[in-house]
Amino acid sequence: MDLLLSLRLLWLMPLAWTLGGCSPSMEGISRKTIPYHKDHGQLFHEAGVWNYSTMLLREELGLLLLGARDTIYALDLDNISDKKASVKWEVPEAKQTECKNKGKDAEIHCKNYIRVLHTLSDGRMYVCGTNAFDPECDLMSYKDGNLILEKEVSIGDGKGKCPFDPFQTYASIMVDDNLYSATSMNFLGSEPVVMRSSSISIRTEFKSYWLNEPNFISMAQVPESKDNSEGDDDKVYLFFNEAALEYDSYSKLMVSRVARVCKGDLGGQRTLQKKWTSFLKARLDCPVLESKLPFTIQDTFLLCEPQVSWKECLFYAVFTQQPHSPALTAVCSYRVADISAVFSKGKYKNPLPVETSYVKWVMYSGDVPSPRPGACIDNEARKQGINQTLDLPDRTLQFVKDRPLMDQAVPPIGVGPLLVQRGAAFSRIVVTRVAAFDDQKYHVAFIGTESGTLVKAVNYDGKMFIIEEVQLFPSREPIKVLKLSEAKGYLYAGSASGAVQMPLATCGRSLSCMDCVLARDPYCGWDQTTSKCIAHLHGQSELIQSVKNGDASLCPAAGTVTPVNESIWLRSNLRLPCRPPSNLAAVSWQRDTIPLAPSDHYQVLPDGLLISNASALHAGHYRCLSLERSTAGDYTSVVADYQVGLVAGEWPLSPEARQDGPSVAGLQVTVGILVVLLAGLLTWNLLKGHLPLPCKRKDDGSGESGYGSAQPAGLEAGKNHSGRGTGVRNGENVVLQTDEPKQFIGDESEI
Ligand SMILES: *[C@@H]1O[C@H](CO)[C@@H](O)[C@H](O)[C@H]1NC(C)=O
Ligand SMILES: *[C@@H]1O[C@H](CO)[C@@H](O)[C@H](O)[C@H]1NC(C)=O
Ligand SMILES: *[C@@H]1O[C@H](CO)[C@@H](O)[C@H](O)[C@H]1NC(C)=O
Ligand SMILES: *[C@@H]1O[C@H](CO)[C@@H](O)[C@H](O)[C@H]1NC(C)=O
Ligand SMILES: *[C@@H]1O[C@H](CO)[C@@H](O)[C@H](O)[C@H]1NC(C)=O
Repeated sequence: MDLLLSLRLLWLMPLAWTLGGCSPSMEGISRKTIPYHKDHGQLFHEAGVWNYSTMLLREELGLLLLGARDTIYALDLDNISDKKASVKWEVPEAKQTECKNKGKDAEIHCKNYIRVLHTLSDGRMYVCGTNAFDPECDLMSYKDGNLILEKEVSIGDGKGKCPFDPFQTYASIMVDDNLYSATSMNFLGSEPVVMRSSSISIRTEFKSYWLNEPNFISMAQVPESKDNSEGDDDKVYLFFNEAALEYDSYSKLMVSRVARVCKGDLGGQRTLQKKWTSFLKARLDCPVLESKLPFTIQDTFLLCEPQVSWKECLFYAVFTQQPHSPALTAVCSYRVADISAVFSKGKYKNPLPVETSYVKWVMYSGDVPSPRPGACIDNEARKQGINQTLDLPDRTLQFVKDRPLMDQAVPPIGVGPLLVQRGAAFSRIVVTRVAAFDDQKYHVAFIGTESGTLVKAVNYDGKMFIIEEVQLFPSREPIKVLKLSEAKGYLYAGSASGAVQMPLATCGRSLSCMDCVLARDPYCGWDQTTSKCIAHLHGQSELIQSVKNGDASLCPAAGTVTPVNESIWLRSNLRLPCRPPSNLAAVSWQRDTIPLAPSDHYQVLPDGLLISNASALHAGHYRCLSLERSTAGDYTSVVADYQVGLVAGEWPLSPEARQDGPSVAGLQVTVGILVVLLAGLLTWNLLKGHLPLPCKRKDDGSGESGYGSAQPAGLEAGKNHSGRGTGVRNGENVVLQTDEPKQFIGDESEI
């Protein structure tokens, strides 16, 4: 029977991949997949208002400032559904008409999208919006429960501070009441600039080798002047993607960059007048073995430990595969000291004309002038009588003007990514340090995705363990902004349709001690007195937790599961549901304590057991067991328990079915549907990364770690994953037919 055979083969596939001799996949699998539920967090959105994509935390005021389209809100940090104030900032009609006349869409482009929202030292806020392709900035205050835009004329012009185009990427940061911004300066979006708006504004040169079709991502300040023996200055770091200069490539290749400028930079006297004298950039490496094209950066988060040197500060960064597709997505982290070393000690790249119109960027090995080009003013410079960048000699300035790119790339900590996942592309990241019971602090990352999910992952010794992936937004829209308040214990996420507030600790999702301990969530422990998985923020000391090893043997013996009575008719089918609490668990079944082998009568489905064409032999006591592995050991638990009794007589079939001959044709149809369903589920699991893929070729991508001879993407794709590609392609069709979008492990139980 062909169908049955194919069904069995399909069933065996994931098993073979799990148990087969290949090395475990390096791709992360989230332990729990949680579907959308409105109780996951408070939601904020107002009818008719869209694009909630700029946030500012004002913990001292208990407020979350939220910038949306044409509106700014002040929301209660404890409950963002509670709106404290709001202010409209709409585009005047004349301006809207002007925007329309320039060929832009009235309803999409000719609106005011809030893009910049920062706090000034006097407590007021600095806010900018795209203002129908004519960016404008203003000061805003929160007084007597009202948000007030001050119509401050002196800072009105938003050119260079805020993008014209709401779809263009941008970055900004406020340092000492000076706005540092990275955006485009003109209507067409063709003049990228990195700028400081102060009494004397300083910006980048309009040269393609300074910024080459950049895609700005984020900015951060590092206080490097603190306890600095070299008398160095504070830095402002910028992350972006840009079209690569340094590779020979047929198609445009984007690379991730980190650039930095010195806070005290005043520009040069003659050369680089009112331009950065300290703008240096380097490639940021996040090597994922499966991919030959470099990944592009999407967001960063700067994590500094209090009382520890700035050198130990870390940038966590999320990356996606290019061309942008929801395939592989990764997290890499970088030590500030490593980035700093590339700029302060590394070699420069030098443009070498090869043909009339072509320049090759190669390592510069000639003499480097002193003071070092691109360096901040430090003790060494001061010794030479150079107290500010205006005093720098032309030789130094000319050098850095022509060569802003460093030769060396910044490597990630641990040489490779902390996490690689297949599935929804990572879009945003925030990280916090959480104290567990072992008195250690662990880095917990909350990662937003392009599909509206939130991935919670913890860094244990340089590998990230994914505790859960939660569908935060009902629609699968990208998460555009993430903020975290340790003081409040909440995470805030914004998207096109609204903002959501979610607690950082979500322990209640584990219902058993074993599940609570194996979740390895530093926020959570099992409370034996109440038999609940709870957050230990309240100072309990008797909780069971084992974050490093997931040692579930600390748990008390689990209570027995009450058997559920089920009946089955002779020659009929019965499905016994069983959903293990973890995507990492392997499921097995027993009948009367004997392990069940798959047969014509038994099929193990991802969410249960199917008994088909039953006979008296199939009555009995069935148990569904889940086996989960952690460093401390293998743990088995009973997920479901059934007492199945046989009902005398045959399944009462309808007359037509009987004419058709129920036994063979009927089963064939059932089996056919099952094959389709199973293939769909399998594909879905593969795509979502719940199941490991078959052995990856070890040599994948290791031959050439660099991208020096990058080839067009099409060639690579076919070569790399030929085996896998077919499976997925077949599966896609099946998924469409069965329309089986999600198979989440729900909070609710069918058992
Ligand atoms: C949050 O605020 C909204 C609106 O004021 C209110 O309806 C809701 O009950 C509050 N939720 C909580 C958990 O306090
Ligand atoms: C730099 O500062 C030192 C000490 O303040 C001063 O003696 C020197 O003249 C200054 N150099 C310049 C070029 O201004
Ligand atoms: C604003 O939200 C709308 C509605 O979801 C969306 O279609 C549009 O792409 C968003 N615009 C921007 C600039 O994000
Ligand atoms: C299941 O059946 C057994 C034996 O017939 C009976 O003792 C038990 O109460 C039933 N359990 C439930 C939950 O109905
Ligand atoms: C169902 O089982 C009976 C006996 O166990 C067997 O004779 C019959 O062929 C089976 N039917 C199908 C469709 O497999």
